[in-house]
Amino acid sequence: MKILVKTVFWISIFMLFVITAACSGGDSSTNSADSSEGGTAEAADQKLRSNQEDPYVGFALDTLREDRWYRDKDAFEAAVQEQGGQVKTLAANGNQDIQIQQARLLINEGVDVLVVVPTEAEGASEIVSMAHDAGVKVISYDRLIRGADVDHYVSFDNEKVGELQAEAILNQTGEGNVAYVGGAESDNNAVLFREGAMNVLNSRMESGDINLVYDSYTEGWDPETAREDLSSFLNSNDVSLDAVIAANDGTAGGVIEALGNQAGDIPVSGQDAELEAIRRIVEGTQTMTVYKSMEDLAGRAAGIALNMAAGEDIPAETTVENGQGGIPSTLLEPVTVTEENIDETLIESGYLTEEEVYGN
Ligand code: GAL
Repeated sequence: MKILVKTVFWISIFMLFVITAACSGGDSSTNSADSSEGGTAEAADQKLRSNQEDPYVGFALDTLREDRWYRDKDAFEAAVQEQGGQVKTLAANGNQDIQIQQARLLINEGVDVLVVVPTEAEGASEIVSMAHDAGVKVISYDRLIRGADVDHYVSFDNEKVGELQAEAILNQTGEGNVAYVGGAESDNNAVLFREGAMNVLNSRMESGDINLVYDSYTEGWDPETAREDLSSFLNSNDVSLDAVIAANDGTAGGVIEALGNQAGDIPVSGQDAELEAIRRIVEGTQTMTVYKSMEDLAGRAAGIALNMAAGEDIPAETTVENGQGGIPSTLLEPVTVTEENIDETLIESGYLTEEEVYGN
C-alpha cells in the first residue's frame, strides 16, 4: 500500500512537471508573441519579470479539452494585454492536485491576481486560502469555487442555461420519457444547470406529462462516459426515450451516438456552441445549444482582475451563495441557439464562419 501511495505521488509530481513544462512550451502564453518568436520559456519569464510594474495576472484553467476553453484563454490573454497587463495561463488537465500545484507556482511567480476555473468546486478552495496568505486576490471564472472567501465570481446565469435547455426541448416534445444527462457533479455549474432544467420540468412531471426516466451526472464531463452510461441504461431497460436534455455539446455528442439510428427523431439539447454541435443542429441530430460569449466573459474578467490589481473596489451586480457566504458576482446572459438563429447569433458576430457551418 505504502509503495502504491509513493508511486502515485511521484507519478503526479512527474505529471505536474510534464504539464507545467508543456504549458511553458505551448499553453501558457505569458505573451503569446514571445513563444511564437521561438523565445524559450525562461526568456519569456525573464521578459515577464522585467515588466513587473505591469499588473501580472495568473489564469488557472481546469482543462483545454472543450473548444470553448481555448477561446476563453485567447480572449482573456488578449484582454489583459490590451489593458496593459501581463498574463500567464496554465491548464491542469482535469486534475485538482495539479491545479493546486500550478496555482502555487503562479503565486510564487508573483501574480497580483489569480483567475481560476476550478477543476473541483470544493477542492479548489485550498487555492483561495493559499493565495490570500500571499496577499493575492482570487476571481472564480465561469465556475464557482465553493466553501472559500472568493473575491469575485464572473460567469453566466447558469441556472438560466438549464431552463433554456429544458424549454427548448419541451417545445419539441411536450410529453413522454425524458433523460437528463448532466455534467460533472464536482463542477458547481453542472449542479446549477440541472437545477435550472428541473425548474422547468418539475411542473410537467407533477402533471404527469413528463417522466424523468434517466437522471445522471457525467464524470469529468466526458462525452465517451455520457455515451456509455446512456447506452447501458437503454440496453438494460425496456424504455423508449422522447427527449434528452444534455448539459453541454460534448455530452450531447455522446448521447447522439448512443441514440444510434434514432438520432434526429429525439430532441437533444447542448451548450457551448461548439462547431460540431452547430453542424449537428444544421443536419438535424441536435436541437439546440446555448451560446455564451467567451469574449464578453473574458473581457469582463480581465477588467475586474486589473482593477483588483490596482487596489480598486469592484462593484458587485449581485451575489451568489457558495457555502461560505454571498460572493460578489457578475453574471452574463446565455442565449438559445437553434437552426433559426445560427446566422444572426454566431455568423454575423464572427464567432463562426458560413464556410465552417455550412461548408459554402
Ligand atoms: C462548464 C462550462 C460549460 C462546459 C463544461 C465542460 O463549467 O460552463 O461551458 O464547457 O464546463 O468543460
